[in-house]
Amino acid sequence: MNKKWISTAVVLTLTTALTFSCEQGSIDASEKSQDAESEAIAELSQEDLELLKQAKKFFKPLPEVAEPTGYAMNDDMVSLGKKLYFDTRLSKSNTISCNSCHNLASFGVDNNPTSIGHKWVAGPRNSPTVLNAALHTAQFWDGRAEDVEEQAEGPILNPIEMGSPHEEFVIDRLRTIETYEDLFAAAFPDEPQPLTYKNMARAIGSFERTLMTPDRFDDFLRGDGNALTAAEKKGLKSFMDVGCTTCHSGPVLGGQIFQKFGLIKGPYWEYTGSENIDEGKYEVTGVESDKYMFKVPGLRNIAKTAPYFHDGSVWDLEKTIEIMGVTQLGKELTEEQINEIVDFLEALTGELSKEARTLPILPRMGKETTKPDFS
Ligand code: HEC
Ligand code: HEC
Repeated sequence: MNKKWISTAVVLTLTTALTFSCEQGSIDASEKSQDAESEAIAELSQEDLELLKQAKKFFKPLPEVAEPTGYAMNDDMVSLGKKLYFDTRLSKSNTISCNSCHNLASFGVDNNPTSIGHKWVAGPRNSPTVLNAALHTAQFWDGRAEDVEEQAEGPILNPIEMGSPHEEFVIDRLRTIETYEDLFAAAFPDEPQPLTYKNMARAIGSFERTLMTPDRFDDFLRGDGNALTAAEKKGLKSFMDVGCTTCHSGPVLGGQIFQKFGLIKGPYWEYTGSENIDEGKYEVTGVESDKYMFKVPGLRNIAKTAPYFHDGSVWDLEKTIEIMGVTQLGKELTEEQINEIVDFLEALTGELSKEARTLPILPRMGKETTKPDFS
């Protein structure tokens, strides 16, 4: 039985079962990319093939969208979520949006050691990037939110982030902006009362699920041997051989597990020079073994998201890698190894889709004009 016949049979069975033409389209597309991938791999040099085999044990290409498990996303939800993400009216003062601390024009971060929120007070932690974050198995440095939808409920009510006093306050504010009623109704068509705090968070979460930034490393993982330069390939090999992959793996090169900062050599602050001691996951659970445990951050776009670590205590990527070598692996990396790894990490700078990069048109002011409020 030839391959073409099998694929036709699969498509036919599915189309008769589902009669969704889009299903057929996606099957054809994924088969095409499978074929292209096999063709590309057949052309790899022996050395590249070995490297690709090793890399595939640890990494995966980014998906187009981080699909949610508990609900079905739709385009209206994503487009509403994007407006909410940029809307400063979710904050008490009317001046701070998600984008203030996770700027999509600067790789989803604010590039401050720790973020500045309501009344311009600095918080205790560095803002991690929202790009590709929806793929993490938990959100926040200490993993206290399960997914991006749950996470999005937090900052709006956080007194040192967006400072809104309670959920009703936010929903009342949104109700004064007429267009939002219609946008929520379109995004949640089956609900009698669509404008709720939960749905607001869900819409923002669904937008975040589209913030994937594919890069040349993904092309390499799909078999394109020319996607990375010789120096970047050397760096990839070092990254794996040194053991960074015990923690930084998966499609985002992190975001999958928690580990103690200072696992082999600590305490961490002796290396980072941190002034405030953050106890990580322990601050949420109170469990002794969670002391100094942090979520292993993803490394996509890492060359652009300085300063580094949970408190932004280190600006320099070379120094960050040197510290990782010592604290997490008990290894003094040579300058050459560090430089090679930097070369590889720089190849992880990706691109958002055009849709995600285009600024939304926000609904205009409603009946009641809201003024800056710094109380
Ligand atoms: C004042 C700055 C500020 C604002 C405004 C803000 N954030 Fe954050 N965000 C942070 C900081 C700081 C953290 C890390 C806090 C922690 O881990 O304890 C964070 C964490 C996150 C994370 C977790 C990422 C990861 O890798 O764990 C996501 C996702 C996120 N924010 C999305 C949002 C969304 C969506 C909004 C708007 C509803 C928002 N943030 C508003 C500063 C901010
Ligand atoms: C045993 C687990 C582990 C190993 C091995 C490990 N890391 Fe990490 N890495 C972490 C954790 C945990 C953090 C977060 C520490 C913090 O900020 O509290 C981190 C943070 C980082 C950061 C900063 C990310 C950011 O957004 O601020 C970089 C860069 C990094 N690691 C690179 C590496 C490299 C390169 C290697 C190999 C030399 C490596 N790591 C090995 C667990 C590990």
